[in-house]
Amino acid sequence: MPIIYDEKNKIFNLQTPNTSYVIGIYENKLPIHIHYGKRINKTYNIDDMVDFGFRYYRGEGFSVRSVDFDDAISLTALPLEFPTYGSGDYRTPVFHAQYEDGSTISKLYYEGYNIYDGKPKIDGLPATYVESDSEAQTLELYLKDELTGVKVVIRYTAYNDRDVITRSHTIINDGNSVVKLKNVMSGCIHLPDMDYDLVQFSGQWARERHIEKSPLSHGKQSVESLRGASSHIFNPFVCLASKNATEDCGDVYGMNLVYSGNFESGVYVDTHNRTRLYTGINPFDFEWKLDKGECFNTPECVMVYSDSGFSKMSHTYHKLISNRLCRGKYRDIERPVLLNNWEATYFNFDEEKIVNIAKKAAEAGVELLVLDDGWFGERNDDHTSLGDWFVNKEKLPNGISGLAEKINKLGLKFGLWFEPEMISEVSKLYDEHPDWCLHVEGRSRSLGRNQLILDYSRDDVCDYIIETLSDIFANANIEYIKWDMNRNMSEIGSAILPADRQRETAHRYMLGLYRVLETLKARFPHILMEGCSGGGGRFDMGMFYYFDQFWTSDDTDAVERQFIQAGTSYGYPTNVMGAHVSAVPNHQVHRTTDIDTRARVAYSGQFGYELDLGLLSSEEFESVKEQIKFYKKYSSVFHKGDMYRIKSPFEDNMTVWEFVSEDKNTVIVEIFVIKGAPSSPKFVIKLKGLEENCMYRDELTGREYSGEVLMNIGLRRIGNRDYTSEIMILKKI
Ligand code: GLA
Repeated sequence: MPIIYDEKNKIFNLQTPNTSYVIGIYENKLPIHIHYGKRINKTYNIDDMVDFGFRYYRGEGFSVRSVDFDDAISLTALPLEFPTYGSGDYRTPVFHAQYEDGSTISKLYYEGYNIYDGKPKIDGLPATYVESDSEAQTLELYLKDELTGVKVVIRYTAYNDRDVITRSHTIINDGNSVVKLKNVMSGCIHLPDMDYDLVQFSGQWARERHIEKSPLSHGKQSVESLRGASSHIFNPFVCLASKNATEDCGDVYGMNLVYSGNFESGVYVDTHNRTRLYTGINPFDFEWKLDKGECFNTPECVMVYSDSGFSKMSHTYHKLISNRLCRGKYRDIERPVLLNNWEATYFNFDEEKIVNIAKKAAEAGVELLVLDDGWFGERNDDHTSLGDWFVNKEKLPNGISGLAEKINKLGLKFGLWFEPEMISEVSKLYDEHPDWCLHVEGRSRSLGRNQLILDYSRDDVCDYIIETLSDIFANANIEYIKWDMNRNMSEIGSAILPADRQRETAHRYMLGLYRVLETLKARFPHILMEGCSGGGGRFDMGMFYYFDQFWTSDDTDAVERQFIQAGTSYGYPTNVMGAHVSAVPNHQVHRTTDIDTRARVAYSGQFGYELDLGLLSSEEFESVKEQIKFYKKYSSVFHKGDMYRIKSPFEDNMTVWEFVSEDKNTVIVEIFVIKGAPSSPKFVIKLKGLEENCMYRDELTGREYSGEVLMNIGLRRIGNRDYTSEIMILKKI
C-alpha cells in the first residue's frame, strides 16, 4: 500500500521502500510539497510537518498576499506542487497559459483525488510501466480553474518495490473558449535550503555526458535543449546532491524526463535559500492550442531519492530503465555480439567487401553483421540520397535480401542502418516533396551534415516512412536496425499547420516520431532496434521505450569512452549503451590502445566491433576470439548486476568499475590506467557490495581473498603505463 491518505490532515504520503513523497492540501485548496526524502511513516497536520518560516505575507518582504486564503499567505513562500504564473509566486512556474481575453493568470485549486492500483499509460508518449497492478499505486489530484474551466490532473505513481516516484500532468480544456498553453512542465519538488550541488551531464558530439557539478546559487540554473532533440550538449537528467555526497553517502535527488525533444531541467533558488527543482518540455518557443474539450499530456518526470549517495540512485535508475522502460523481446535476453562496418569502410564498400568482413567476423564468433550508411540511393558521401530508401544496385547487385541471405549463410544475423527522419536536397524524395521537410516559407533552409529534417509533425510523412520501412523489413531477413538522426532542427515550421499552431511543430514532431517507432516496434517485434544520433545525441529515457540500446558516442577511443560511459552510467544502465572495439590509431583522437583494453571498456556496454577483423595481426585476431567467448560468458554480470564506480576518470588517473552479479556470486573488476606516471603512487581499490564473511577466488590466478579484506583493506595497484588495463573475475566460494 504505497500511497496513504491521511484524511483528517489532508496529507498524501507516497511511500516506496525507503522514500516518501508527502503532499499536503493547504486550506483545502492548494497542493503543497511537504517532503521528499527518507521514508516517513506517520503524518500530522501541515503545520506540524513543515515550518514554513516566512510563510506569512507580513514576513516576506515585498511579496503579495493571496486573498483567496484565510491565512495571510504569499504564494511565493509556499512549496507549491503545481506553481502557476500570476498570483504572487515569482519563481519559475510549471504552468503558464493564455486565455481568450488575453490574460495569463491561472488559479488552479484542488477539487479532489483518486488513488488506484497500477500505473496508466500516457497517450502518445513513452513512459515507465508496470507489468501488474500490484507493482505500484497511482494518485491523481484534480485541480480546476473556476473562471476558465481549465482542469488539471497531476498524476503520481509510487512503485512498491523500487524507490521511484513518477509524475505527469494532463491539462483539460473544460471551458468554453480556446486556451493557449505556453508552459506545461512535468514536475517540480521543493527543498527547504540550497545546500546542494547541481549535477548535470553535458558534452558535445563525440564527448557526451561528462559529469559537471556546480554549487547552487540564488536565481535560476538550468540545462536545456532548443535543438528539437535532447542533444549531445545537455541531458535532461539532473541531480541535486548534498555537498558531502559521494558514491556511498549523502542525499541525492535524481530527476529525469521521459522525452526526447526540447527540454529544460533546472533549479530556481530564491533569496530565502529555498530550492525548486523542475523539468519538462522547454517553454521557449513552445505553444499549444487547446480547443474546447481537448486535453494535453505532459511527458513523464521520473524521480529517485537516495540517502546514501550516487551509487544507490544509479542502481535504481538502471533497474527501472532496464526492466520497466525498455520493452519487448530483447529486454531480458542477452543480445548478439555485432560487427558494424562503419569505421571499417565508411561509404566505400560493395557486396564482396561486406561479405569478406562478415566471413572474418563469423570466424571470430561475431553473431550479427550490421551494414551502416551508404547502401541506398546514390549515397557515396553524406551529400545525397537520404529519403531514397531503395538499394544501390551498383554496390549491392543482389539487393538487401540477397546480401542478407549471404550473411545468414555464414551463420550471422543481418542488420541495417537507416536515417528515416532525414531528407537530402539531392534525392528523389526531395524532388517529389520539397515541402516535406521542416521549414518556414520564404526563409532559407539551414543544412546540418548537408541534410534537412523530414516534418514528422505531419501524419502523411509519418505514414510514408512507416510503409517504406515496413516494406524493406518485410522483404529481407533484417533482424536489427540502427536508427540514426544526424542533425538538429532549425527553421522549425510545418507547411501544413495553421499559423496559430506553428509553435506546436517541435512537440508534434516528437509525437509523430513516437508513433512511427511504436508502429514499427509492434509490426516487427523480432527486430532489435538500436538508436543513434551522431552517437549519443538523443540518449534519453524517451528513446528507451522504443530502442533496446543506443549508440553511446561516435568516439570509440578506449580512454575517451571511460569518461563518456562513466558519465552516462549515473542515469542509464550499461545494457543500453552500445560500445564497440575499433581500429587503432583511433579514428577520432588518433590514440593507440591495446586490443584488450579496448574490449574491456566495451564489455561494460552492448559489446561489438567496428573494424575489419581481417586487418588484425593473428595474435590480435586470437584475442578477439577469446574476447567474444569471455563476453558471452559474463555479459549478464555486466548488464544485470550492480555497477559500482570505484574510481572515476573525472577525479583520478584511473578508472575502476566493479560489477556484482544478480546472485552476488560473480564479481568483475575492471581497472584502467589513464595516463601512466613513472614510479606511480599506489592506488587503493576498495570493492563494494560483497559479503564480508565470504571468500572469493580470483578465476585467473586462483588466489583467494576474503570479502572484508577486499572491501575494507582493498587491492593495491600502480599506474605506470599509459592506457593499460586489467580485469579480475572473482567467484564467491
Ligand atoms: C552517425 C553515426 C555513425 C554512423 C554515421 C553514418 O555519425 O553516429 O555511427 O552510423 O552516422 O553516416
